[in-house]
Amino acid sequence: MFLWATQGQIPNDPASLAAGKTAYEVHCAFCHGRGDDGFAANLVSPNLPHAPSDNSLFNIIKNGIPGSDMPASLGLSDADGWKIAAFVRSLGRSAPQSVPGDPTKGAASFKGKCAGCHMVNGAGGRNGPDLSDIGAKRSPSNLKTSILEPNASLVPGWSVAKVSMADGTTVSGVKLNEDQFAIMIREGNGKIHNIDKSKTKNIDRSAKSSMPTYQGRIQDAELTDLISYLFSLRGGM
Ligand code: HEC
Ligand code: HEC
Repeated sequence: MFLWATQGQIPNDPASLAAGKTAYEVHCAFCHGRGDDGFAANLVSPNLPHAPSDNSLFNIIKNGIPGSDMPASLGLSDADGWKIAAFVRSLGRSAPQSVPGDPTKGAASFKGKCAGCHMVNGAGGRNGPDLSDIGAKRSPSNLKTSILEPNASLVPGWSVAKVSMADGTTVSGVKLNEDQFAIMIREGNGKIHNIDKSKTKNIDRSAKSSMPTYQGRIQDAELTDLISYLFSLRGGM
């Protein structure tokens, strides 16, 4: 069950903010780093997609985000939760981290290498997640991992499977759904197959991401430009 918080308020006195910073270091820094250099979501942003209001931010801190790796903070008092919320909002007010690289060049290489699979602001393909607000959700180091090691940072809902049918044919693509009797696969060309499991021989889930790795296939300067472009994408354009 969800423990809905009572309405509360973000404190704004310096002592609460300092206490919030200390509690953040204990409960959050392990995944979020200093806010923008952890492997989890970037918190140095005035618009957190999951936390548009202060109450939603407090609820995330207390209860986590169900279905994601963002955990509930067990044993955290409401008062400390609000102090952490105050600290997180103060991160959002500070200037966004400036990243090296040229976002204009990054946009050009994105168009050539990545837009076939990824949509940004309505343009691009559908074989990967929409990246229109990726800069608000991921830190620069997290973006780098996504590009160099796609299997190390899988986005929920994009796992792939290769189904070998009893008749010798195979179907592979993104797994949309699965239950005891059937598995639904979307191939790269968009075609959706709802497969009766009794007609399959084997389901291989060992390949994780359908995104190719760019490790060793991309120059450092181009990677830096790409990251500066992705980090500039904040949605709402
Ligand atoms: C075990 C790792 C982990 C810990 C510990 C953790 N988080 Fe997270 N957090 C995540 C991940 C992963 C996400 C991204 C979830 C998603 O979008 O799928 C996330 C998302 C968030 C978001 C939503 C950001 C957005 O884009 O809307 C906020 C806010 C947040 N965390 C704050 C905190 C705070 C504050 C703490 C400490 C109380 C904390 N987190 C502890 C892993 C963690
Ligand atoms: C063949 C299709 C394909 C190509 C080409 C591709 N991607 Fe991806 N990308 C995916 C898929 C599928 C995922 C989700 C699975 C995963 O996390 O690896 C993904 C995930 C990502 C993510 C993580 C998104 C998130 O929400 O955390 C980023 C960032 C990303 N891609 C950037 C790029 C960049 C930059 C390029 C070009 C250099 C690129 N991709 C090329 C298919 C592709």
